[in-house]
Amino acid sequence: MSDLVLVEQQGAVLEIQINRPDKMNALTDAMYADLVAAFKKAEQSKEINVVYLRSSGPHFSAGNDLADFLETEFNLESNVVQFLLTLAQMTKPVVAAVNGAAVGIGLTMLLHCDIVFASADVKLSVPFIKLGLTPEGGSSQLLAARCGDLKANEWLLTGRNILANEAENTGLVNQVFENVDTLWDEAGALAQKMSKSSQDVLVASKLLLKGEQVSDVVQLIKKEATIFGQRLQSQEAKAAFDAFLNR
Ligand code: COA
Repeated sequence: MSDLVLVEQQGAVLEIQINRPDKMNALTDAMYADLVAAFKKAEQSKEINVVYLRSSGPHFSAGNDLADFLETEFNLESNVVQFLLTLAQMTKPVVAAVNGAAVGIGLTMLLHCDIVFASADVKLSVPFIKLGLTPEGGSSQLLAARCGDLKANEWLLTGRNILANEAENTGLVNQVFENVDTLWDEAGALAQKMSKSSQDVLVASKLLLKGEQVSDVVQLIKKEATIFGQRLQSQEAKAAFDAFLNR
């Protein structure tokens, strides 16, 4: 595992930290492979009860690395899709701490987390439409399920930013903290507290909370990925990526 994804066990919590702050934690194919390995480790370990997901630096994640996207083949076996499928099928609770920008998959991954804390400077967006792309990560349905269909329509069809107040008021995040250090402290403390419950009861509770939806979400992620893969090949998407990378 590279140092772009840090993994540290603290008691019965596995802390997974996205760690590419110089590129705003934009995610590459190799980083998705690391994330898959980290989440699978948490899922399979008898010692881990809860995952705590966070990032280093001022931004949670600028989403997919657009340069990497232009160079890497995309299909259902791609590490990014495998990451989403792995996260969606986690049976152990995942607590996420989000600060600064959370763009694209930086937001959609949160839809598979069980508790999401944010800092007051959070700025979330799903700007697929601005990039010639379509919703991914289950967001075409899960965003509406979490926040209501009118908000999901607005966010996905305009790609506009969602600031802390709106995120909290619409239930996109559980709670907002004044600064990022408090955010990380509180999210870490919550993960620790939750991890004191037995693994059996945590897993059984999450299973009840998710109900039957996991298999539907898996199918949705694959369906979205198929359309997303076609859009990635479009001139519209390539031009949008070029425009960002050559600003
Ligand atoms: N892919 C590749 N590189 C990215 C990136 C991405 N998604 N997001 C940021 N970077 C790189 C920039 O190219 C820049 O690299 P450089 O220092 O070598 O020039 C570096 O990260 C810093 O980014 P910058 O835009 O200067 O930081 P900022 O603080 O002004 O803005 C963001 C932060 C997140 C708001 C802005 O980087 C952004 O909008 N990123 C693109 C988000 C996006 O469209 N993601 C895809 C969603 S599908």
